Amino acid sequence: MKTIIEPFKIKSVEPIRFTTREERVKILEVAGYNPFMIRADDVLIDLLTDSGTSAMSSDQWAGIMRGDESYAGAKSFYNFEAAVKKITSDEFIIPTHQGRAAEKIIFSILGGPGKYFASNTFFDTTRANIEFTGAEAVDLLVEVGKHPELRAPFKGNMDVEALEAFIKKIGKENIPLIVLTVTNNSGGGQPVSMQNIREVKDVCKKYGLPLFLDACRFAENAYFIKLREKGYENKSVLEICREMFSYADGSTMSAKKDALVNIGGWLSLNDDELAMKCRNLLIVTEGFPTYGGLAGRDLEAIAQGLEEVVDEHYLQYRIRSTEYLGEKMLSAGIPIIEPPGGHAIYIDAKRFLPGIPPEQYPGHSIVCELYIEGGIRACEIGSIMFGKYDKQGKLIPAMMELVRLAIPRRVYTQSHIDYVAEVLIEVYKNRSKIKGYQIIYEAPMLRHFTAKFKPL
Ligand code: F0G
Repeated sequence: MKTIIEPFKIKSVEPIRFTTREERVKILEVAGYNPFMIRADDVLIDLLTDSGTSAMSSDQWAGIMRGDESYAGAKSFYNFEAAVKKITSDEFIIPTHQGRAAEKIIFSILGGPGKYFASNTFFDTTRANIEFTGAEAVDLLVEVGKHPELRAPFKGNMDVEALEAFIKKIGKENIPLIVLTVTNNSGGGQPVSMQNIREVKDVCKKYGLPLFLDACRFAENAYFIKLREKGYENKSVLEICREMFSYADGSTMSAKKDALVNIGGWLSLNDDELAMKCRNLLIVTEGFPTYGGLAGRDLEAIAQGLEEVVDEHYLQYRIRSTEYLGEKMLSAGIPIIEPPGGHAIYIDAKRFLPGIPPEQYPGHSIVCELYIEGGIRACEIGSIMFGKYDKQGKLIPAMMELVRLAIPRRVYTQSHIDYVAEVLIEVYKNRSKIKGYQIIYEAPMLRHFTAKFKPL
């Protein structure tokens, strides 16, 4: 087979700024060793997130010019609504400024003390929005998904037996909603199979519970189903997406991922009473229901992005370019979550730095080294992001210590990725010299964004 190429030409370019190693050592120190605190201009290759970092197409930019900025009933809203309905088939489509705004609305209405929500794995903002209401968020990932080194096609699946046991234990009256995150970001960008969605739906149906998709990376998930699940090889990605959503009663979405835009999101649902409550809250927090915290032009860009993201040449390139980086790392012996996920490669920091305990944040050490060695910005997804403290103030580590190399959509070329692999290999070769870190400041919630560190 010939090389899978980027299915686009580049029309507009943005220079990236080179820094020296000495400069980067200083920059990192000034940033309190927190990559979120580094100016983007001081980063050469930014793999902090695939969220809101996509390159838009010329058709999306044309949509920006077409945007109807009317306060109520804008044409752009109806284009957006039609594009979202084409994928979700949901009746009520509520635009929000990003994914967490949709989460804030739905969980404020359904949550509260004594309530429980279950997912394959909740993303951090989703969990925070649930916990903020006093409710609890419970992850029920399949066992294979907890073992980075094991290869399986659908490591993002929910443990269906555990779900049923959970419902019986907690009582269905205390569980307002079950959520499937597709793909499973915090669990390694691993997909959820159609069979699993169907089985989770069956359990939800049995107990009368609604099922929502956290749909941020729905198209990447659908493409994995096409590649890996029997019976889907000849279906179009759009058909697969529609089937995925057909089992759900609604979705929260960050359009900053698989709608290929820089800002936006939605809440979709079919329950009219609930939709009414959501819209009422939306008006207080986001804006009128036909723009929901977005400009008309943003809605146009989302509508166009949703057309482009289900294009199979795009998805083939997207999934292959992530896998390409993963293969280079594996051939150098670097431990990653296998197989490579859709939007990111996740380094298994426990195996990369076995000498650094979770209390010294081995993932964070790798993040710092990648920046110093090559100006690459990555993100720890381990005990800094998900660790908790017990009553004595001792760290309860996260299940996994990971470093995420998230790949922005349509932004970097193959030589950028080759460079990333070279830097990673260099850091890996020198791993015996890497030291741990200590937190010297942290906020009570979502501490990874603002924490300050000290090298040990
Ligand atoms: N759900 C998932 C699975 C996500 O990955 C994100 C965002 C959200 C919800 C929230 O969406 O950012 O638009 O408010 N993930 C980004 C990331 C931030 O880097 O993975 P948002």
